[in-house]
Amino acid sequence: MYEEAERILISKEEIEKTVQRLADEINRDYAGKEIILAGLLKGSFVFMGDLMRKITVPCSIDFMIVSSYGGRTFSSGEVNIKKDLGEDIKDKHVIIVEDIIDSGITLSAVLNILRHREPASLRLCAFLSKPARRQKEVVIDYLGMEIPDEFVIGYGLDYDEKYRNFPFVGILDPKYIHE
Ligand code: IMP
Ligand code: MG
Repeated sequence: MYEEAERILISKEEIEKTVQRLADEINRDYAGKEIILAGLLKGSFVFMGDLMRKITVPCSIDFMIVSSYGGRTFSSGEVNIKKDLGEDIKDKHVIIVEDIIDSGITLSAVLNILRHREPASLRLCAFLSKPARRQKEVVIDYLGMEIPDEFVIGYGLDYDEKYRNFPFVGILDPKYIHE
């Protein structure tokens, strides 16, 4: 089972502890407030499902699907909104939930778009970050873990839409990478 993962980078137990820490921080910072968790599909859904069950302040959830223009050549920094949030976020406290911040290009564009809608506050919660790959600086208000520049799968993260179901974060065995 799970042979496509060359090795486990973050175990189920470490994931659980990390998500609890993030939820504790959010619960503390937003005490007495109501929040909207805005997840970027598809990668964030597993993390967001765990996170929201540990959040104790009143919260609602919403989702967005965005893709960078031009596939893998992220030159323009523009994103294409394939599915927008369902709710108006004006005067609301919004936390964007993302699986991993890599180049930062998607997130900096999304932050810009959402900032224009005048939320009461806008913060970013990301489970993982690969700082070595950053092209656009983004402030991650709630960060699970920094990881090295390796392609990871599991816990919502995919390679070619597969392996999102793995209950840990692992490094993809290069023999499963295809053109
Ligand atoms: P970026 O920060 O704009 O480069 O885009 C981040 C997105 O790229 C994430 O939401 C993931 O969908 C994807 N991504 C980046 N690194 C990985 C990885 O190691 N495994 C799986 N998906 C990744
Ligand atoms: Mg992906």
